[in-house]
Amino acid sequence: MIAEKYGDQIQAILARYPDKKSAVLPLMHLAQAEYGYMSRAAMAEVAAVLDLDPTHVLSLAGFYTLFYEEPVGKYVLEICDDLACALCGAEEFVQMASRKLGIPVEGTTPDGLFTLKTVMCLAACDKAPMLQCNLHYHEKLDEAKFDALIAQLRAEAATVGD
Ligand code: FES
Repeated sequence: MIAEKYGDQIQAILARYPDKKSAVLPLMHLAQAEYGYMSRAAMAEVAAVLDLDPTHVLSLAGFYTLFYEEPVGKYVLEICDDLACALCGAEEFVQMASRKLGIPVEGTTPDGLFTLKTVMCLAACDKAPMLQCNLHYHEKLDEAKFDALIAQLRAEAATVGD
């Protein structure tokens, strides 16, 4: 339970806001970092800490693409396929990524490393094709750059796993 495990951290977050309700997004990030995704149980925990209706937390989790309602891989690759990016080859880029990773969009690799998603505009329209990996943008991509990114992330995961 995050309330027990992160009591001091939660109090520090709450102290930054005029009311408890305003701390909902930081607490959702804390819960997602703990559990890997925002399960219904995690949403209920956040709601309980903040005296909110769990449906309020659920609505936020559904609105923000960085909250995951299902388990995801260590690296979530979110490729923008909105209009501007689509005109610059995003659909073909998504197909290439899917083929390279061996998973469909919304799928996760069997090793749990990568989840592939498509998202609406990430405000980097002039740098398409682009993707967001966790909180980092990767722009003006092509197949070679995608291969290099995947290799780098695999190496990073192997190092952290040691
Ligand atoms: S349409 Fe892709 S970043 Fe804006």
